[in-house]
Amino acid sequence: MKLDVLLGLQWGDEGKGKIVDVLASKYNVIARFQGGPNAGHTLEFNDIKHVLHTIPSGVFRADTINIIGNGVVIDPVIFMEEIEELLEMNIDIKKNLFISKRAHLILPSHRILDAASEAAKGKTKIGSTLKGIGPTYMDKTGRNGLRIGDIINPGFEEKYNFLTNKHKDILKQYNFDYNLEDYENNWFKGIELIKSFKLIESEHEINQYLKDDKLILAEGAQGTLLDIDFGSYPFVTSSNTTCAGACTGLGVAPNKIGNVIGIFKAYCTRVGSGPFPTELENIEGETLRKQGHEFGATTGRPRRCGWLDLPALKYSVMLNGITELVITKADVLTGFDTIKVCTHYKLNGSKIDYLPYEVNDQLEPVFKEFKGWKEDISKINSFDKLPKEFIEYLKYIENEVNVPIKVISVGPNRNETIIL
Ligand code: GDP
Ligand code: IMO
Ligand code: MG
Repeated sequence: MKLDVLLGLQWGDEGKGKIVDVLASKYNVIARFQGGPNAGHTLEFNDIKHVLHTIPSGVFRADTINIIGNGVVIDPVIFMEEIEELLEMNIDIKKNLFISKRAHLILPSHRILDAASEAAKGKTKIGSTLKGIGPTYMDKTGRNGLRIGDIINPGFEEKYNFLTNKHKDILKQYNFDYNLEDYENNWFKGIELIKSFKLIESEHEINQYLKDDKLILAEGAQGTLLDIDFGSYPFVTSSNTTCAGACTGLGVAPNKIGNVIGIFKAYCTRVGSGPFPTELENIEGETLRKQGHEFGATTGRPRRCGWLDLPALKYSVMLNGITELVITKADVLTGFDTIKVCTHYKLNGSKIDYLPYEVNDQLEPVFKEFKGWKEDISKINSFDKLPKEFIEYLKYIENEVNVPIKVISVGPNRNETIIL
């Protein structure tokens, strides 16, 4: 059996949590492969609205196994809060949630370093979620990091103190006030909680599941345009958010990847700094933000909004080898007289149809206009009943990108989904 991957094709928040929750009923295992609590994945069903950060979005399906893979970075405090919230909903996932021993730990001092670094950057800040993601991945690649497997071995506290002291030395370079103690106490409580979970070598477990013909879906975090290599560097996150990240973040060989499901919003959003060619800093952008409730699930920050960017979408499809598409939040476009799609850009008078190395103010998006629709589509459950204007919009995108759209999401709820 091969492993399917679902990942975001834009700047994150495409609706991955919702769609993984919908698809989870078809899979035995859901596995997160990168990122950490910078992610905020929202799930809605019955009267429940729930946001997950570290825990995979299969957690509300009783028989689904959830794995936090080696590529993920974990903050024990946030993990503990997530588990407590689930317990309040009578969901005890101890028997269904496994954590890779190779996953790295976000230390309290990593969070401080993230905040100090951002403060020092001033106007050029990345707009990080301040969860310590960058400094943790830096310690991972710098070969200084602490891993989940370390917490059950002797000498863990010594290793913790050694790395924390190193961070304190680095922090002396910044003029930054901080207090570690409060967070530290909870952090060690979180470590104790993590010890009570099944800590595994997930690469073996996952490959065995594949041999046993179990169905696995790898759940991406962030989006392709935030990838450390291919995103709008330096305004990116610190992991590979692309399909290749599923191989390294779970220990699965490239020839074991099956379907690669790419998810995109019917328009674009971005939270944090960095280039955004189709951004709308006008009433249309505000309308998208208002109708789409575009406020960060992790930080509450307003998301920047703009029209769909086809060159960027095609770039993401290419990088990931996308085999099928999911479009979300189409309902948010309801009511617009005209909907626009960026088909290419103009740069110094020339036409370019790809996302260039350098995206700056000189890059001018060129739009094709579509007639909008007025009817509420959120309760529609079959393709044939969709407004013809919306179908035209979908067909255009599908044709341009040359990958079939297999799922249309028309609302935040599990039920508000048309599967083709
Ligand atoms: P993720 O990070 O990719 O999981 O996405 P987020 O949860 O951060 O943001 C997506 C937001 O849109 C959440 O509030 C979802 O509940 C909501 N959402 C998902 N799909 C749809 C949809 O089709 N229509 C509407 N209106 N909201 C949606
Ligand atoms: P999900 O999984 C949207 C953005 C931050 C910032 C940049 C770097 O919910 O789609 P970091 O904290 O990773 O160092 O921040 O990346 N970012 C996200 N934007 N959705 C996310 O995750 C994000 N995770 C990080 O806003 O611009
Ligand atoms: Mg999100």
